[in-house]
Amino acid sequence: MRPSRSSRARLAALLTGAAALLLTLGATPAQAADPPLRDLAAAKGKVMGTAVTGSKLTGTYGDIAGREFNALTPGNAMKWGSVEPTRGTFNWAEADQIVAFAEAHGQQVRGHTLVWHSQNPSWLTNGSWTPAQLGQLMNDHIATEVGRYKGRLATWDVVNEPFNEDGTYRQTLWYNGLGADYIAQALTAARAADPSAKLYINDYNVEGVNAKSTALYNLVKSLKERGVPIDGVGLQAHLILGQVPSTLQQNIQRFADLGVDVAITELDIRMQLPSDSAKLTQQAADYKAVMNACLAVSRCVGVTVWGFTDSDSWIPSTFPGQGAATPYDENYAPKPAYRAIAESLGGGTTTPPPMDECTATYSVTSQWNTGFTGQVRIACSGAALSSWKVGWTYGAGQQLTQAWNASCTQSGAAVTCSNASYNATVPDGGSVTFGFNGSWNGSNPVPTVTLG
Ligand code: XIL
Repeated sequence: MRPSRSSRARLAALLTGAAALLLTLGATPAQAADPPLRDLAAAKGKVMGTAVTGSKLTGTYGDIAGREFNALTPGNAMKWGSVEPTRGTFNWAEADQIVAFAEAHGQQVRGHTLVWHSQNPSWLTNGSWTPAQLGQLMNDHIATEVGRYKGRLATWDVVNEPFNEDGTYRQTLWYNGLGADYIAQALTAARAADPSAKLYINDYNVEGVNAKSTALYNLVKSLKERGVPIDGVGLQAHLILGQVPSTLQQNIQRFADLGVDVAITELDIRMQLPSDSAKLTQQAADYKAVMNACLAVSRCVGVTVWGFTDSDSWIPSTFPGQGAATPYDENYAPKPAYRAIAESLGGGTTTPPPMDECTATYSVTSQWNTGFTGQVRIACSGAALSSWKVGWTYGAGQQLTQAWNASCTQSGAAVTCSNASYNATVPDGGSVTFGFNGSWNGSNPVPTVTLG
């Protein structure tokens, strides 16, 4: 028989009520009791930042970005190709949006990046310029972009990735046109455009002591000696699982000893996909090692992750087959790496919520004048059961009359059901459902079900 409109409506209401009563085995919302990373970092006088995509700064992504981090870096929005795709035509929308979001959330902004060989507009890279023209273009670009945000940005990555792996200068548009002194010129122009911003040179594979980081070290030393404005060195730290350089802290310290700040600017730790719990545990240890190296050096101002969620990471598209590089998974669940960061910052002392859980959901699937049919679904995600038992207490005199796919007993108001021999196992990602009939009188409220 087709249910009447009103009984269908009532059934919908019952199912909604059942969903609200979904119970989680062993989960406690202890995460909520932990202070956000930004508060832990601030208590230590450190930056805990993330790269962001402006268009995503709403909903859960925006909530986490605002709650957990005290600094933002636009992942792409401030690059030359983003802000001036056509010569003389500027698009500041995403950059402005990120700066406004940061100001509304009391966050610093790290400007990224002014002078780089990559993500430049084609009019710039395809043009043929005399050295004088190129120098003018660079200076004007810096004056325009740094000037736009004057007084509002904490930091600029003025020059990005100037070195080859062997420590020689990368042959770029800038180096080829202006020589190595383009770096000093860019820094000088940035200082003139915003005297309050900290000016950095930023590069990758310069985290440990090696030929490339030594070249960067020698450059910073000579810039300091010449009086060129240089405030800091950015170590990008796009790392590989299990390969945090053992000389990271020593390297940070040697830059600090030159009289500049150091920042970890683009931390992510990639792994071969799929991830598993052993890899995520290793990744947590790696994140903690990076945090601890920075925390151990007073001039290391802090750490920025290059995207906080695996759903907003450049890794999968740049390194095929690799990913899971950030502290939150694609569904915004904090990974062990999140907790490792919290612990390194002195938090994470409350019990973490289990990442893995099984849940039991009670619902009434049909109901008539004196009777009803119900079901309980037991579902697991990231966990599994080899046997199960659920219980509930009826609040309005309901009486179980029959059950299938489980053995159920009722004593007074208390019902207990355990698995049949053939459905004891609930695999990770799977579910088991059993059903029952009962009688009711007056009302038939959905009870609270416990699994365990
Ligand atoms: C990456 C962005 O995350 C990607 O979205 C983009 O497609 C390529 O650039 N070093 C840097 C960053 O300094 O600007 C790069 O960002 C990652 C490597």
